Amino acid sequence: FTEVDEIELPAAFDAHVHLRDGEMSQLVTPTIRQGGVNQVYVMPNLVPPITTVQQCLEYRDRLRAIDPNVDYLMSLYLHESMTPETIREAKKAGITGVKSYPAGVTTNSSSGVLDYKLFYPIFAEMEKQDLILNLHGEVPSTPSHAPASSNTQDPSAPTQAITILNAEPAFLPTLRSLHTTFPKLRIILEHCSTAAALSCVTSLGPTIAGTITAHHLSLIIDDWAGNPYSFCKPVAKTPEDRDALLRAVVRSNGRFFLGTDSAPHDRRSKRGGDSVAAGVFTQGWSVGYVLDALGRGVERGVIGEEEVTGEVLEGFLGKWGRAFYGVGEGKGERIVVKRGKGEIVDVLEKEGLDVGVVPFRRGEKTWGVEW
Ligand code: NCD
Ligand code: DOR
Ligand code: ZN
Ligand code: ZN
Repeated sequence: FTEVDEIELPAAFDAHVHLRDGEMSQLVTPTIRQGGVNQVYVMPNLVPPITTVQQCLEYRDRLRAIDPNVDYLMSLYLHESMTPETIREAKKAGITGVKSYPAGVTTNSSSGVLDYKLFYPIFAEMEKQDLILNLHGEVPSTPSHAPASSNTQDPSAPTQAITILNAEPAFLPTLRSLHTTFPKLRIILEHCSTAAALSCVTSLGPTIAGTITAHHLSLIIDDWAGNPYSFCKPVAKTPEDRDALLRAVVRSNGRFFLGTDSAPHDRRSKRGGDSVAAGVFTQGWSVGYVLDALGRGVERGVIGEEEVTGEVLEGFLGKWGRAFYGVGEGKGERIVVKRGKGEIVDVLEKEGLDVGVVPFRRGEKTWGVEW
């Protein structure tokens, strides 16, 4: 793999993207195919969030108008206004799943979930209708002035203060209990960022899978501390966690697949304000970033050269995610990726649009994509 300069692959499936709305979506949606992807699962955390079937279908129409050559799988934002009837309607309308955000954890998640039990009637209907539940698997942090109380949502867990470093491991009991209560419900633990999350997913039944982003395959804590363009939720963790993610890609057996969580924010939200918006933008070079991360993993001896097979690349970049989602390969398009032929811009901008996004690894080279 490290000697190869050109690889032909099926066009990729990105199982977790933020395409936003308005000018930002005009800017980022046209970069999906540039990254080697022709099918995406679209997150619903717009302002206001997508909570009704009608909003969701209208959103899909807007995306299709921007690039009709991408297949958009759509999601609803888990919300207290939802009823089991919403789930039945969603199924009929061809909506794929429901994303749950814990209240207050990440971008536009102020209206997220505080207590999962309140949503059991929704989950029961989703299980029946076979809609996918996508979890942002983090527990909200303990406020810095508050006592270290148990907000792990697991009464049996030891009392511990939650920070962005243990927020994902602290969520895992919730995943386990959802799986126990709804064993047939297909659940994806999105953007796995810790070794603990990976072992939890593999320990559960085949209805549970995990997505892994391109940037979590590269980054560690030190990379985002001080760099707003590498800051996202969940934050990148230790080198050991990052290496566990690399191993999970090549030893996945279909349980883990690509969901980039590409999350564009205008450059003005990344600099100069009192806080930094969370999100790493990877859409335009998604397949290239993954190949680079795997190459580095081989160089560092974390994964074996012989482990990065064509089967693994095809699987992680599309086949396994499509299988879990139960969607076909669409038009069966193929891409050729060429080492070093992709140039990552400093800022993604477009004439007439008053937004600009700084991509991950700006100004560097990665694999280029030809269709
Ligand atoms: C920023 C930088 O260099 O990090 N540019 C700047 O401050 N002029 C990037 C940015 O804000 O987009
Ligand atoms: O860093 C993140 N940004 N994590 C998320 O889960 C949401 C995303 C966003 O929408 O910007
Ligand atoms: Zn998320
Ligand atoms: Zn996301």
